[in-house]
Amino acid sequence: MAPKVLVSDKLSETAVQIFRDRGIDVDFEPNLGKDKDRLLEVIGQYDGLAIRSATKATEKLINAATNLKVIGRAGIGVDNVDLNAASKKGVIVMNTPFGNSITTAEHAVSMMMAVARQIPEASASTHAGKWEKSKFMGVELTSKTLGVIGAGNIGGIVCDRAIGLKMKVIAYDPFLSEERAAQLGVKKVELDELLERADFITLHVPLTDKTRNILSRENIAKTKKGVRIVNCARGGLIDEEALAEALKSGHVAGAALDVFAVEPATESPVFNLPNVVCTPHLGAATTEAQENVALQVAEQMSDYLLTGA
Ligand code: MLT
Repeated sequence: MAPKVLVSDKLSETAVQIFRDRGIDVDFEPNLGKDKDRLLEVIGQYDGLAIRSATKATEKLINAATNLKVIGRAGIGVDNVDLNAASKKGVIVMNTPFGNSITTAEHAVSMMMAVARQIPEASASTHAGKWEKSKFMGVELTSKTLGVIGAGNIGGIVCDRAIGLKMKVIAYDPFLSEERAAQLGVKKVELDELLERADFITLHVPLTDKTRNILSRENIAKTKKGVRIVNCARGGLIDEEALAEALKSGHVAGAALDVFAVEPATESPVFNLPNVVCTPHLGAATTEAQENVALQVAEQMSDYLLTGA
């Protein structure tokens, strides 16, 4: 009998086509991830579960998934999957670490530019028929120091793009070798030095016990006055309350946030503060990235379900 896969989030239909072409019996129910009760009822039928971020693969769901062999996350972060529960049940969890990295890096660079020139506020003001030419004074990126926290897959691409913009790039990343730093053209520094020197800070680390609140109240206080902070990684990396206070006091000149401690974010201490650019976790939201991750997750899951490889 053909293995059965459930796609329970809004994945590109490329994934569905690949599963079908590979002989997998696939159900495409892109809204099921939000319906926890129904998902619990049906999950027992499936050998594979393909998700983005809306489906929460909790311990309860994994325990109810009596036939499940693999969970495929079309994206990088697996924070919506209970990895302990999966490994206890022998369920393989796979992600697509490279499919959306360029897109996410590009979003971080766009957010940095948007906050440097206050583009969203200037745009809203112009749409409102105001012509507030003198209100929106920006800063140049050329020759400014960009502090990259996490110079891995996405952070490395951000470093490359920032160097193209003639920024000086410093990076804090305990896993970054001196050779790789030289290859990227960045200077490897400790976190305190990055906080003290950077004109812009961008975060590109996963949310773990070590990185949670890496921009804590204490660390925000160590930053250079007038710093602008970009976060397109994970919400819990910044103390949003402390960031809001630092924005209000003028210590932090601007922030561009794609991710929030609680998502979907319907409220946040930074909402409606001046020079705060917010987007609803759009880091991976391009046609190209969504095609890539869908294709990769479907290929990987099919390989595993059909050959065990
Ligand atoms: C990811 O982990 O790949 C990103 O946060 C993108 C997403 O899930 O929307």
